[in-house]
Amino acid sequence: MRFGALEILTNDEVYEPRGDSFLLAEFLEGMKDLGDVLDMGTGSGIQALVASKNAKNVLGVDVNPEAVKLARKNAKINGIRNASFVVSDLFENVKEKFDLIIFNPPYLPVDDKIKGAEQWSCGKNLEIIKRFARDAKNHLKENGNILMVISSITGLKGVKKIFEEFEFKVEAVGKKKIPWETLYILEIKIKS
Ligand SMILES: C[S@@+](CC[C@H](N)C(=O)[O-])C[C@H]1O[C@@H](n2cnc3c(N)ncnc32)[C@H](O)[C@@H]1O
Repeated sequence: MRFGALEILTNDEVYEPRGDSFLLAEFLEGMKDLGDVLDMGTGSGIQALVASKNAKNVLGVDVNPEAVKLARKNAKINGIRNASFVVSDLFENVKEKFDLIIFNPPYLPVDDKIKGAEQWSCGKNLEIIKRFARDAKNHLKENGNILMVISSITGLKGVKKIFEEFEFKVEAVGKKKIPWETLYILEIKIKS
């Protein structure tokens, strides 16, 4: 598939970019001077590839090794040299701090355990989002921020509450209604 000038290879084992991916990628395209960027849950690498145009360096991570392989391939075929990819369960294998962390998380509040469920299931009590919020601050530079997609199905209030508990402030900076849900782009900053 194509996203603007980018060619993005897909396969059955990795989340194929769709509405939520495109909403975030389009927002990201409008941002300049991104500095050092982390793309959490990179999947095909779409966000990392888009960010790479305006970033110093991009690190894409995913818990799914097949996603990491695919994202590397996608960077290569698009001639992108400032993006690298590693397997990591959230921040487990991430040591650095970033100016921007992008996250299009698995956002359905279900406990699915079937193969591939990491693509959509964040746990009934939003466990993935809670673990991410708990550790994100240790990986943000001063004035760094987070850009994240969620759905009305995830629950905007609940997600805001999680980040507020970890002393972030949350603002919805983008919104798109589709037949079965509303997607939100959240800008999340450390409370000053
Ligand atoms: C909704 S997909 C988004 C993929 C891609 N960023 C996009 O925008 O199309 C969520 C991604 O998060 C990854 N993921 C799920 N749990 C994770 C975890 N604990 N640590 C890292 N990545 C995870 C999934 O493998 C999947 O690639």
